[in-house]
Amino acid sequence: MRLGFASDHRGFKLKEELMDYFKNNGYTVNDYGTNSEDSCDYPDYAYKLGNAILSGDVDFGVAICGTGIGISIALNKIKGVKCAKVDNSWEAVQTRNDNDTRVIAFGERTSFDNAIELIKTFIETPYSMLEKYERRNEKVRQIESGEYNG
Ligand code: RB5
Repeated sequence: MRLGFASDHRGFKLKEELMDYFKNNGYTVNDYGTNSEDSCDYPDYAYKLGNAILSGDVDFGVAICGTGIGISIALNKIKGVKCAKVDNSWEAVQTRNDNDTRVIAFGERTSFDNAIELIKTFIETPYSMLEKYERRNEKVRQIESGEYNG
């Protein structure tokens, strides 16, 4: 499985630790920056990761900023990308099962162990493809594309 990671300066340390862990555990890991703790703008790295999802370079993405909120907002502005800011395992399961999100986001204060659990839960949970979720996800897609008319 191929995982892409992106963060701003505030998520940089946790990103490095998580990338090491997943590399050492047999995953293919792509780094979409940032590459230091120097102050930077999270949309620049959200954009790189989101495009890696769209091009198929990675199967799933992990995005980290101070809160996880800014970077998730930026990812969700990329047409065709769905990102969830997740705080617990239940949300990680639900967002894969229901929303078919491909990127998980969280904040820098997430512990290493919790982040591992959130990511593993997220990538190991399949999208259910239930009709009700397909219908709702299609409406979300229509809102994004401007086709939705109520
Ligand atoms: C950067 O200062 C901070 O705003 C960012 O990491 C993130 O928390 C934004 O949502």
